[in-house]
Amino acid sequence: MEHLELTAPGLLLRPWREEDALAVLDALREPSIAQWNPQGGLLDRDAALSWIRCRADWSAGNHVSLAVADPADGDTLLGSVSLHRIHDGDASIGYWTVAAARGRGVASGAVVRLTGWAFAELGLHRIELCHAVANPASCRVAERAGYRIEGILRESYRYGDGRRYDEHLHGRLATDR
Ligand SMILES: CC(C)(COP(=O)(O)OP(=O)(O)OC[C@H]1O[C@@H](n2cnc3c(N)ncnc32)[C@H](O)[C@@H]1OP(=O)(O)O)[C@@H](O)C(=O)NCCC(=O)NCCS
Repeated sequence: MEHLELTAPGLLLRPWREEDALAVLDALREPSIAQWNPQGGLLDRDAALSWIRCRADWSAGNHVSLAVADPADGDTLLGSVSLHRIHDGDASIGYWTVAAARGRGVASGAVVRLTGWAFAELGLHRIELCHAVANPASCRVAERAGYRIEGILRESYRYGDGRRYDEHLHGRLATDR
């Protein structure tokens, strides 16, 4: 499983590698990712390596974390997509796209591909997706990937600026068309 590679048009979803450390550092420092995917202040290459090692180790069985790379070289980092809190047929999905690769379907393509794989291969029944109401780009990703809006979670998550934000809860079922 940890060697899983998935392809989609223009995308390669592959395991994280230590060689990704500097690209990860750049990505997680980018202001909108630092705000909407806070990682607790990733300061240097060693911290990025620890981040990568956690995501490359799937042995606990509770997450599937993949780098989204350019299939032309397999190396250039475009983004991240991951399933977490995998338990008893349920999971949550999260994602980000590096600034230079936005607006060309990277996040929605990666979410669609990992979601389809998780329903087919992990036998999941339901996947949740949460984003701040103040982050409309993420709402578009959710809708484009077939995650229906189910409600608003009030002041449910503390984002990068330390403030709690209302979130949209979206969900997709294996039985959804
Ligand atoms: C949100 C984010 C993941 C979108 O990534 P992306 O690869 O550019 O998304 P896609 O190209 O797949 O676009 C999907 C949809 O979002 C829309 N979108 C993208 N950026 C947008 C923006 N800034 N404002 C409004 N809509 C936007 C696209 O137009 C597209 O909608 P469409 O199908 O109606 O055309 C990316 O901007 C990002 O990483 N932002 C910072 C971190 C973040 O928000 N992470 C998600 C936390 S829940």
